[in-house]
Amino acid sequence: EAIEKGGFDHFMLKEIFEQPKSIADCLRGRLLPEEALIQLGGIHNNLSKLAKAKRIVFVACGTSWHAGLVGEYLFEELARINVEVEYASEFRYRNPIIKEGDFIIAISQSGETADTMAALELAKSKGAIILGVCNVVGSSISRITDEGVYTHAGPEIGVASTKAFTAQVTVLTLMALATAKAKGTITDDVFRRIIFELDAIPAKVAEILKKSEEIKDISKLFTFAQNFIFLGRGLNFPVALEGALKLKEISYIHAEGYPAAEMKHGPIALIDEDMPVVFIATKDSSYEKVVSNIQEVKARKGRVIAIVSEGDVDVKKMVDFAIEIPNTHEILQPLLTAIPLQLLSYYIAVLRGRNVDQPRNLAKSVTVE
Ligand code: G6P
Repeated sequence: EAIEKGGFDHFMLKEIFEQPKSIADCLRGRLLPEEALIQLGGIHNNLSKLAKAKRIVFVACGTSWHAGLVGEYLFEELARINVEVEYASEFRYRNPIIKEGDFIIAISQSGETADTMAALELAKSKGAIILGVCNVVGSSISRITDEGVYTHAGPEIGVASTKAFTAQVTVLTLMALATAKAKGTITDDVFRRIIFELDAIPAKVAEILKKSEEIKDISKLFTFAQNFIFLGRGLNFPVALEGALKLKEISYIHAEGYPAAEMKHGPIALIDEDMPVVFIATKDSSYEKVVSNIQEVKARKGRVIAIVSEGDVDVKKMVDFAIEIPNTHEILQPLLTAIPLQLLSYYIAVLRGRNVDQPRNLAKSVTVE
């Protein structure tokens, strides 16, 4: 097992550090920046239909559901298609309305999650076109779907998903860009700019990983926290949810993720000097708004850890701890902002003496209802 861990203390840490490679593997042969091209052989037969889709419904569970929420922003923003993101376990027990030309897309690392599989069977029986975004080649979900795009993240052993999440977001980004291109909702200039930035993501993830010692030092000061709040806006709202899920899964600290603006409708009541609040406060279209949310937390003595863009001085002055990450195109930010949150959860859980790779009560793949 020590050999399989490749010198890392846990599979989770190994998998976090594999992300520059797993994202690059996911892009290989699909993203051709020089030719300004995206090639997705796995959905070749359905791409033109996807570009005409009236509606896309993502069905997924857990971390994969969070990737679906990122996908919602991506498809709406780039391809101007209506998107819904459903918990597979809820979708399967409703009587969902499915019209001709609707696409149901399952997102699943294992490809074996019972609820996701059942949701797909229901959608198929109602005549939907079903696609899959799976990591495990030949899995049940990949076999039942009409077509799909594999995430190629390699085996993920740690129960808490890390590299599978960033690979899912990478695939959804490629799919949304290819759909937008086929539909004509993106200009050549913007398309080209985003794919050059996407190509640079693995190297930028590697830059963030160099900060692991700095993040470990911050973790030491929050090891005994009882609660945590994670806040972000736009594309970084699902990342806040994922940050909170990671922390509760492996450290057993109660954590909630919220859209930063929604804080004033409830969570703000929880804020005092004992409440750590993680803000994703990168330079993007919601930056100014997030900054004012940070001020609201600081005014109530909350302890703030902020994920900020390289070179940001303003937020740094306001918060207790700032973790700088490289700049990228706004729509690619989740691929970077997720990384420091994974490391933060990991180090807090290790310092609390938790079984990081196999947290209590959780399974890597939930194949029963
Ligand atoms: C379990 C795992 C999670 C995972 C979820 C969905 O709860 O512990 O890490 O996100 O199942 O799994 P899937 O394989 O469908 O992505």
